[in-house]
Amino acid sequence: MTRTRVPPVLVTGATGRIGRVVVDLLIAAGLPVRALTHRSEAAAALPGCVEIVTGDLTVPESLDAALRGVSTVFLVWTAPPATAPAVIERLAAHARRVVFLSAPHQTPHPFFQQPNPMAALHADIERLIAAAGLESTIIRPGMLASNALFWWAPAIRAGDVVRWPYGAAETAPVDERDVAAVAARTLYQDGHAGGDYVLTGPESLSQAEQVSIIGDVLGRRIRFQELSPDEFRSETEGSWPRPAVDMLLAAWGATIGHPAFITSTVFDILGSAPRSFRQWAADHATAFTEGPPPSS
Ligand SMILES: NC(=O)c1ccc[n+]([C@@H]2O[C@H](COP(=O)([O-])OP(=O)(O)OC[C@H]3O[C@@H](n4cnc5c(N)ncnc54)[C@H](OP(=O)(O)O)[C@@H]3O)[C@@H](O)[C@H]2O)c1
Repeated sequence: MTRTRVPPVLVTGATGRIGRVVVDLLIAAGLPVRALTHRSEAAAALPGCVEIVTGDLTVPESLDAALRGVSTVFLVWTAPPATAPAVIERLAAHARRVVFLSAPHQTPHPFFQQPNPMAALHADIERLIAAAGLESTIIRPGMLASNALFWWAPAIRAGDVVRWPYGAAETAPVDERDVAAVAARTLYQDGHAGGDYVLTGPESLSQAEQVSIIGDVLGRRIRFQELSPDEFRSETEGSWPRPAVDMLLAAWGATIGHPAFITSTVFDILGSAPRSFRQWAADHATAFTEGPPPSS
């Protein structure tokens, strides 16, 4: 008797915040996983049963080995845009389906409607995927809860004050484990072709409330000190890319006075409630007390 070999799912961004969890969930669902990595040191952290193939999204021909024999791809794009058309063309020559990690750039809420180069890139890739005739599922997380680690952990490790702009700006941080769970589900379950899923956390919380929740979880009082947009620009000068700073300031500024946009999509797809920001903070508490020295 001959056995049909199940083609592997190619996971790009397999070492990243979402892709890494997608890898684990696909393995748990019994699927063979091939991971695309472009830094060999990052690949070392992947489970032993994962087939690791190196390739670089900025060098389309480097992807041929990774694409051979796959039918489904999880696509995460953090590279510059120039090679996207050639990569999608190559992808369509091998695969039938793509699940693309995008963003809610079409959502009619002020937070998502500010000028944003990432939105333009995501929209372009979606157009390329559609034009290539690939079956697609688009995953659109709002603000990821783990941004709090990048933004506030250095200050919280160093003291009890977070200096930040727009404390009153509300977002609905979504736990990256929920985003990964939805992505994995759409990769291993039928019925998601054509799916377009905006994913948010369960509650609208101001940035000051989010900092306060982290303090609660740590058993400390963390003070939120409001910065003006210009103070934030000068404090991040040289350490953050200016377009990213301007993009965030525009989004936070535009959302003042509006509750965050919230969807039930995580629940609708997984059948379980999205994790709260408090839960996320509790599960990552040590990252706010231990870790690399804060950059000054
Ligand atoms: N942050 C948010 O709140 C948010 C919200 C909505 C959507 N998004 C979107 O989510 C996506 C992921 O963002 P993230 O910050 O979460 O990603 P991330 O964790 O930084 O992961 C980036 C991944 O991309 C891989 N990668 C980078 N450059 C590559 C290249 N040239 N070729 C192949 N692989 C490459 C990295 O692999 P190596 O480890 O091998 O370098 C890594 O696995 C982005 O498109 C972002 O716009 C983010």
